[in-house]
Amino acid sequence: MLGDRRLITVCTMACLGSGRLCVRGVEKLCQFGQNIQVRRKTSAAFVRIKDTGIQPFARTLLRNCQDTKTQTGCRSLSSHQVGPGSMPDFQPVDPYRLLEDDLKDIYKDIRKEIHWNTNQEELRKIASYYFDGQGKALRPMVAILMSRAVNYHINKSGLLPAQRQVAMIAEMIHSASLIHDDVIDQSDFRRGKPSVNVVWNHKKVTMAGDYILAVGAMMIARLRNDDVTLVLSQIITELVQGEFMQLGSKETENERFAHYLTKTYRKTASLIANSLKAVAMLAGADEKLAEIAFQYGRNVGLAFQLVDDLLDFVSSSDAMGKPTAADLKLGLATAPVLFACEKYPELNPMIMRRFQEAGDVEKAFELVHKSQGLEQTRFLAKKHCLEAARLASSIAESPYQKALIVVSDLVINRMK
Ligand code: FPP
Ligand code: MG
Repeated sequence: MLGDRRLITVCTMACLGSGRLCVRGVEKLCQFGQNIQVRRKTSAAFVRIKDTGIQPFARTLLRNCQDTKTQTGCRSLSSHQVGPGSMPDFQPVDPYRLLEDDLKDIYKDIRKEIHWNTNQEELRKIASYYFDGQGKALRPMVAILMSRAVNYHINKSGLLPAQRQVAMIAEMIHSASLIHDDVIDQSDFRRGKPSVNVVWNHKKVTMAGDYILAVGAMMIARLRNDDVTLVLSQIITELVQGEFMQLGSKETENERFAHYLTKTYRKTASLIANSLKAVAMLAGADEKLAEIAFQYGRNVGLAFQLVDDLLDFVSSSDAMGKPTAADLKLGLATAPVLFACEKYPELNPMIMRRFQEAGDVEKAFELVHKSQGLEQTRFLAKKHCLEAARLASSIAESPYQKALIVVSDLVINRMK
């Protein structure tokens, strides 16, 4: 196991090496350091949790967290327990429980949008396939949490209809990109069922992804806010560029980590960062607050993808609802492999040939497990989660703001 100092060096190098993205990130983070001026309010840090209505994702994670007191992420969760006196039946805010009413019809309302805009039954079916309510709804959940936290911060209450629309649009862009991704990756399984490309032919599936995107574009237009339109459109340009970067590039060994982080931002973090910025803008937040929302989303998004890349090496297919070691099989070198390269340089030629030779996938898998690559990936993810929690702490205290901090714990402790 590497010492903390060595890990910090590796991650700092990774961050510094990531060029524009991380340098800009560091500048922004400094900008939002101690000097930031925010109004603070006191409110309950806890909600009473009944044993119902919580999504399996959050339930498992909250239980993991409460059971494993030694994990840093969980310590930070309990460090937020600042409720009045000792109240044993009070628990840290559970985001899904807190937003139960806001989230319960999200998928139904998306399906309505998909349905209304066409009378072609097969197109409706394909486009609705991933909106069956089995997803984690992470993006809508975080978008609504940030909406309510920002609204509270600037003395508004409730959730604006336009903010809820952004939560839906974020999930629609995400699903459209997954549909395209499943065609590109020739995926078999997603969300515990055959992936969309297995059930219908590629041409129809691709069109259905485009259709979801087009319906999302109409919803954006209905917001009648040019700045928000630009921010949300940026997500799509970045998703496409991220996927392009992944399709095949010949970056050198030195460029690899920077390339990976930029790709990760574009493929995963941009969607969360920009949708959170959009809901903050809709609330009338000033630039500083909108940037906090953006940076929170960026950090949560990067951490989420780093953990995803880690779970591809350690989780079972049953738990993930999709095959594992899939990235290596697709020829992709994610953070665990890139970190492992330091100890096992023999991984370099395998990365260059995208693990195409017989035995490459098995050998790389073994070397990653023998190296510190998994710990280093988790460490980097944790760093982003802590940064997200710090940013959330600079928003006025409310149950929604507290739940944003809990989300950063959920991301680092997620099992699937
Ligand atoms: C999942 O990656 C895929 C993405 C996060 C984005 C894919 C983006 C595109 C296909 C570009 C086109 C975008 C739009 C909006 C049409 P993964 O393969 O690493 O994850 P997985 O294991 O869940 O498949
Ligand atoms: Mg895929």
